[in-house]
Amino acid sequence: MAAAVKIVPRHIAIIMDGNGRWARQRGLPRIRGHEQGAEAVRECVEGCGELKIEYLTLYAFSAENWQRPKSEVFALMRLLEKFLKDKTPELIEKNVRLQAIGRLTDLPDRCQKRLHESIKRTADNTGLTLILALSYGGRDEIIDGIRSLLREIEAGHIDKAMINAEMFSKHLYTRYYPDPDLLIRTSGEMRISNFLLWQLSYTEMYVTAKLWPDFTRKDLFAAVEDFSKRQRRYGGVDVL
Ligand code: IPE
Ligand code: IPE
Ligand code: MG
Repeated sequence: MAAAVKIVPRHIAIIMDGNGRWARQRGLPRIRGHEQGAEAVRECVEGCGELKIEYLTLYAFSAENWQRPKSEVFALMRLLEKFLKDKTPELIEKNVRLQAIGRLTDLPDRCQKRLHESIKRTADNTGLTLILALSYGGRDEIIDGIRSLLREIEAGHIDKAMINAEMFSKHLYTRYYPDPDLLIRTSGEMRISNFLLWQLSYTEMYVTAKLWPDFTRKDLFAAVEDFSKRQRRYGGVDVL
């Protein structure tokens, strides 16, 4: 199946949704859904490797997810720590470079430490770049970008007449990465939920009813194949 795909996206972004429903359907606590979701991440990273995708951004924890019950937030942070501890050797073995976006200083110290360690240990890898969106909010990112731009103006490094979209993009968390070509959301929800608001302007969307813990590499290949048939016009007209 992977071999049949012709046009592959350079950058895939995924809103990994439906862990709680997956657990509820089985009469399990929500955290079991999150644990199973971490396994789906592994499958997806492998699938991206097979397809030679360059960037994969995973929405793992939103700025709004801090509003969840303390016990769930605590369990999610522990799971993140465990994921980084257990999976870093595998990331190294698979030549994956780990990166993160979001207000990372909001994370518990232990998570931040593990995260920076994993980023450092995988920094020289040349395969897939895996970007975890953690304590990430699209509006926060834009506000932080404006603040960063203002600092540069106040320091006299740039003139406000020079501001344009390309320059502003360089002040976002994602400044080192191209915009996503394909956005996948699992669990059937038709919304963006404050994810990459600036970067998704011309991204192709793919929504599947599958819940994230059930998402397999076959589902990834199906999404990529669907993408390969799309006509991207960027506001222009079809080239016949
Ligand atoms: C996505 O699954 C994981 C996170 C947001 C951390 P959910 O926990 O949102 O699962 P549902 O939407 O309640 O099923
Ligand atoms: C989006 O899912 C955030 C992540 C997948 C990390 P949510 O479950 O938090 O989004 P809503 O509440 O359905 O919009
Ligand atoms: Mg959800």
